[in-house]
Amino acid sequence: MSYSIKHLTPSLSSSNPIPRWGSSLIPSKIQSLPTKPINLNIIKPLCISQVQDFGGWVRKRSHEVVCKVYEAEGDLPLEIQSEGGQKMRIGFYFATWWSLNVVFNIYNKKVLNAFPFPWLTSTLSLAAGSLIMLVSWGVKVVEAPKTDAEFWKALFPVALAHTIGHVAATISMSKVAVSFTHIIKSGEPAFSVLVSRFLLSETFPLGVYLSLLPIIGGCGLSALTELNFNMTGFMGAMVSNLAFVFRNIFSKKGMKGTSVSGMNYYACLSMLSLLILTPFTIAMEGPQMWEAGWQTAVTQIGPNFIWWVVAQSVFYHLYNQVSYMSLDQISPLTFSVGNTMKRISVIVASIIIFRTPIQPVNAVGAAIAILGTFIYSQAKQ
Ligand code: 3PG
Repeated sequence: MSYSIKHLTPSLSSSNPIPRWGSSLIPSKIQSLPTKPINLNIIKPLCISQVQDFGGWVRKRSHEVVCKVYEAEGDLPLEIQSEGGQKMRIGFYFATWWSLNVVFNIYNKKVLNAFPFPWLTSTLSLAAGSLIMLVSWGVKVVEAPKTDAEFWKALFPVALAHTIGHVAATISMSKVAVSFTHIIKSGEPAFSVLVSRFLLSETFPLGVYLSLLPIIGGCGLSALTELNFNMTGFMGAMVSNLAFVFRNIFSKKGMKGTSVSGMNYYACLSMLSLLILTPFTIAMEGPQMWEAGWQTAVTQIGPNFIWWVVAQSVFYHLYNQVSYMSLDQISPLTFSVGNTMKRISVIVASIIIFRTPIQPVNAVGAAIAILGTFIYSQAKQ
């Protein structure tokens, strides 16, 4: 049986894995456990706080062994689990994340087709998430996080980048096919490498740079052969890529040392983003335009239109919440592979549902870009 250790708080990455792992604290039985590479991103020393039946290793289920380990400063639990249990859990998270994302994308596009106000729909998505979480905290379904001014200060740049990335992606989807937005969004790793290299002076293995060729080439081929190309749609997806790279960089700093769970972190992010976005939404569109647009949409679609709006708003929150909860459970690498797979499900589902016309060469471009993203994930290990 082989084991891996995983962190139960958002572990975006660390350039200094296990720097202060005190070997004297770790009994030899544990030291000998990992036989596979360890996905561990921690910066604090670890203490064993609870080991049940240390000699015999109490089994929780037939294939799962748990040993509680805590960081010295943060009471943050780590688990050591069998590979089978971990795979099942990751599979469950991924299936839920992708399904919720597909539903969001379908309803989002249906709403935008009938009611082309991407600033308002972006705001409603954040508002729905904020409301869901405030109610959850109020009725104590979820424990409210303990936050201070420092937490919100660190969250601000993350929320700003999240807001820009979200509204830019929605503007893109209001102008082009959902599949095209996601093909361009599969180029996000290229932005990540370029920003890290030129703004943060980080270096990467040669394989990472080489993987950018198929990513950029594939996205470029798809863009050039897109039947319904629109420059605003293309630029919206590109801006979203750039903003989300900054969101990830700021998240890495903002989440460091915080004990707020993935679910609550995303809740706070939604609320702050909502505050940032609302004045811009009113300035860019405004109630008069919405009123006229709403009447037209309800006339075309019927009273069910309101449920489409509710669905796109609620599913946006749910898929993001599950993705942040996944970050609690998996390594950044597994997360980025999962995100790429998510794009494949969205691209395929949206092409089928919206009967999007695509040329074979356009599909080849998408496949090359997605393959490049996989190569990037592997080269970055
Ligand atoms: C958004 O509206 O925020 C985007 O559709 C998000 O896209 P992603 O989560 O697939 O990157």
